[in-house]
Amino acid sequence: TRPATVSVLGREYPTDEMTNVSPTILSKLPLRLHTQPAHPLSTLRALIESHFPSYAHISSLSPLVTPYQNFDLLSFPADHPGRSVTDSYYVNKDLMLRTHTSAHEVDVFEKGESKWLLTADVYRRDEIDGSHYPVFHQTEGARIVSADPNGMKEIEDDSAMLQAHLQRSNIIIEDVPHLSSTNPCQPAHDPKHTELIAKNLKLSLNSLILALFGDHVGATPQNPLRVRWIEATFPWTTPSFEVEVFFRGKWLEILGCGVIYQPTLDNANVRNKLGWAFGLGLERIAMILYSIPDIRLFWSQDARFLTQFKQAEITTFRPYSKYPACFKDVSFWLPENMDIHENDFCDLVRDVTGDIVEDVKMTDSFTHPKTSRKSICYRINYRSMDRSLTNDETNTLHAQVTSGLRDRFGVEIR
Ligand code: PHE
Repeated sequence: TRPATVSVLGREYPTDEMTNVSPTILSKLPLRLHTQPAHPLSTLRALIESHFPSYAHISSLSPLVTPYQNFDLLSFPADHPGRSVTDSYYVNKDLMLRTHTSAHEVDVFEKGESKWLLTADVYRRDEIDGSHYPVFHQTEGARIVSADPNGMKEIEDDSAMLQAHLQRSNIIIEDVPHLSSTNPCQPAHDPKHTELIAKNLKLSLNSLILALFGDHVGATPQNPLRVRWIEATFPWTTPSFEVEVFFRGKWLEILGCGVIYQPTLDNANVRNKLGWAFGLGLERIAMILYSIPDIRLFWSQDARFLTQFKQAEITTFRPYSKYPACFKDVSFWLPENMDIHENDFCDLVRDVTGDIVEDVKMTDSFTHPKTSRKSICYRINYRSMDRSLTNDETNTLHAQVTSGLRDRFGVEIR
């Protein structure tokens, strides 16, 4: 029943057993919100670019990449879960939608760039709630220097300058050591060089965070913005870090980064250099800066959303009323020896309802002791961001989800 080809950005590609791109997802590819004038994501991109004026600014690369670019060139192990069809979108086994902007690191380095930013839409299969959407935007940034005294002097001079700028602020930054036994130096590196690179990475990003949040979130000496660095692991950096910002009672992860793993630069034919890379999520940051409460709003075509914003200005989002929510449950028996991944269920819901579903939760799951068949119940929260849904409309959508479940997965509705 699978069509022989799928059309992506105006070209036909053969499908195979890995094809899982859905029409809903493919409809997002041409939109490129990060380049739409006045869109909050575009303003945020421009703001980040203006903070790194001497860097190359790239924002026009196609989302189609090979699994080799997205994973292998970055030293992801062969069995990494990110490669699975439940986590990533595949056009076919040789072509996928990039899951992160790091997919372009090797290519950009290979072109000879040594200080660059790259902003793009990225795609990950995910659950449905207020802060997850299967398409979001990232800005990747990187800097490499010669692995010699000249390169180290360049980095140290830059760090000294950044440090001088970082004095005043109502931001409290919790740090971790540049290196530790759990966040080690690479065999190919002199630990002294690694420390200098990691220090410059942290200063560069703290300075960006200060520029982004310092003026905008109303931090005061009594109520400072709290930022924390924590150890992380990525296959193509070590040491690695994540940065989280405390917002509305929760720590929100906004970026990942680290000292680039030397094989990554080897893959790009870059010799005798080392440096850092980071990747930050634009939606999370824009939600904080603009007080945008739901990640679906970035995709709204409603004039009440779009006309609120001007390019290069950060303003507080004025909600135009929250429309009533409507919960509906669907319970079903799975066919024997079959399971449905939550991401598959959520993609079905998105295909049928577009952005009308705010939240999906599994509320029950049990296996019948006699027949050993499994039963699952999901609760779907229907709520439009733009208008009130009528009862009829919600019932129709829910009936379509139900029949879609039956058709796509062969389940028996209870
Ligand atoms: N690509 C990583 C992510 O999406 C972020 C990252 C970029 C980490 C560059 C390290 C270096 O989570």
